[in-house]
Amino acid sequence: TWKLGDFARETIGRLKEQIGNGRVICGLSGGVDSAVTAALLYQAIGPRLSCILVDNGLLRKDEQAAVIAEFSNHFKTDLHVVQAETEFLKTLEGITEPQEKRRRIGHAFIECFKREALKIKDVEFLAQGTLYPDVIESGAAIDGPAATIKLHHNVGGLPAELGFKLVEPLRDLFKDEVRRLGLELGLPEDLVWRHPFPGPGLAVRCLGDITKPKLDVLREADAVMIEEIKAAGLYRTTSQAFAVLLPVQSVGVMGDARTYENVVAIRCVNTDDFMTADWTHLPYEVLARISTRIINEVKGVNRVCYDISSKPPATIEWE
Ligand code: XMP
Repeated sequence: TWKLGDFARETIGRLKEQIGNGRVICGLSGGVDSAVTAALLYQAIGPRLSCILVDNGLLRKDEQAAVIAEFSNHFKTDLHVVQAETEFLKTLEGITEPQEKRRRIGHAFIECFKREALKIKDVEFLAQGTLYPDVIESGAAIDGPAATIKLHHNVGGLPAELGFKLVEPLRDLFKDEVRRLGLELGLPEDLVWRHPFPGPGLAVRCLGDITKPKLDVLREADAVMIEEIKAAGLYRTTSQAFAVLLPVQSVGVMGDARTYENVVAIRCVNTDDFMTADWTHLPYEVLARISTRIINEVKGVNRVCYDISSKPPATIEWE
């Protein structure tokens, strides 16, 4: 049986050979896959690694700052942060159809990434945190309908456009193996156990058209959800937890006044492979705390619903 200690050492050795004296660019998303990819490369080539983080304005509350802090604590290498909120919000203006949102976000991401990448001199390689299941799923998209239910923009696109050679050190691994590898490489537990977050970010959790004020409401509600799941000690035992901002208004009452405000759905699921998932039977007290806090603390929300749908037939994300 192989040990990850050996795996890490072997992978780092192989990367050194493959890359030689070349320079590598790696996109950071804040997730575990891109972080482990960057950590492996950093061990292999040190300062010849440049990382790019595109802030698309669709990240969660304080996420950009958290990624920068984690990154600069662990690597002393070249980090480029692209502030692209305005650009993404502009291309998403008035768009409500989920696949069209994904297409536009994917396109804007490639544009931003490319622009930044071309500023970095002598780049030969592009590193991607593609996992084994991504390899399978992107293959399935060609053969069957399963993977085309939602367009995933993580695989492909970039290398061809940029003309870089591809480096994918996690290509043979499953998620749990990537997490173990991350711990082995000294990445913080907080990062290693982070729930997955979709590439199109909050855009597919802000139903209907996307505006900054709506995203801000969603960010606050989502932060409460995550905080309470963590406070209840449930973050590690659940697979994904988040808030969704619905495109409807509901009537409420505050003091003597009638309110007509937003509805937030909260979602929490358990899954082994993200192909099927069960809604998590969260304790009532936890649900009650989340609801009370969101309604009291998030301006513009007067109702919270818990999503009790499993996958299939529902998907994990609402769009
Ligand atoms: P669904 O909603 O299809 O999600 O049940 C399964 C898993 O994939 C994530 N997801 C995405 N990830 N780009 C991504 O990178 C996407 O467009 C996308 N859509 C869904 C979702 O968060 C869940 O983990």
